[in-house]
Amino acid sequence: MIITIVNEKGGVGKTTVAINLSYCIAGKGYRTLLIDADPQGSVLKWKSIADNKTFDVKPYPDPLTNLIRKLAKGYQHTVIDTPPGIGDATWSTLLGANLAIIPITPSPFDIWASNDIIQLVRKAKEHNKNLIGALVISKKIAGTLVGRDIRNTLAELKMGIFNTEIAHRMAYVNAAGAGLSVVEYAPNSKAAKEMKSLCDEIVR
Ligand SMILES: Nc1ncnc2c1ncn2[C@@H]1O[C@H](COP(=O)(O)OP(=O)(O)OP(=O)(O)O)[C@@H](O)[C@H]1O
Ligand SMILES: [Mg+2]
Repeated sequence: MIITIVNEKGGVGKTTVAINLSYCIAGKGYRTLLIDADPQGSVLKWKSIADNKTFDVKPYPDPLTNLIRKLAKGYQHTVIDTPPGIGDATWSTLLGANLAIIPITPSPFDIWASNDIIQLVRKAKEHNKNLIGALVISKKIAGTLVGRDIRNTLAELKMGIFNTEIAHRMAYVNAAGAGLSVVEYAPNSKAAKEMKSLCDEIVR
């Protein structure tokens, strides 16, 4: 399966989901690749900190759909971290992927801003019949009204939503800084549990 993580909005947790999801998929014994399609190079930087070898990481300099398939050859699952925006890199990954995960934070601004990426995924489906789009609630802060109502609000977008919700937790930030997945950094944490749960929903 080829999974691309997309959102036009920056800072919603795309890279965090990409790294931790890749770790959990690899943890199930699948040969897993994470492609860093973001010129910011966050995944490559993360990998360099602790030379993390739990899954393979490749850079993605050229936004061509056929290159994704070439890079993904030999891997059972490939995850792609994309830059914020709805540019060529994002579009070409949508044409090559089976699953587009859209992390969305429960903030009014972020929900309003998600319209373009939803439309882009719909447009990509016209060209790529294999593509499924799904939202994942990301960086949810307990106790906020918008957090409580988020599922009803997102239902209006008429796209699947993962049951797993990713909360705002410092373990994600600390794990990233250490060059680790949250499962390595804090194996018994709630963060580790929610990432494994998201992985279980995807890889069945
Ligand atoms: N669930 C979370 N809880 C707390 N902090 C988080 C969580 N997910 C991500 N972060 C932090 O929020 C910031 C943005 O996250 P991340 O880099 O994963 O987002 P992104 O969508 O990839 O951003 P960009 O669009 O710039 O690539 C980072 O500092 C990251 O450590
Ligand atoms: Mg990122």
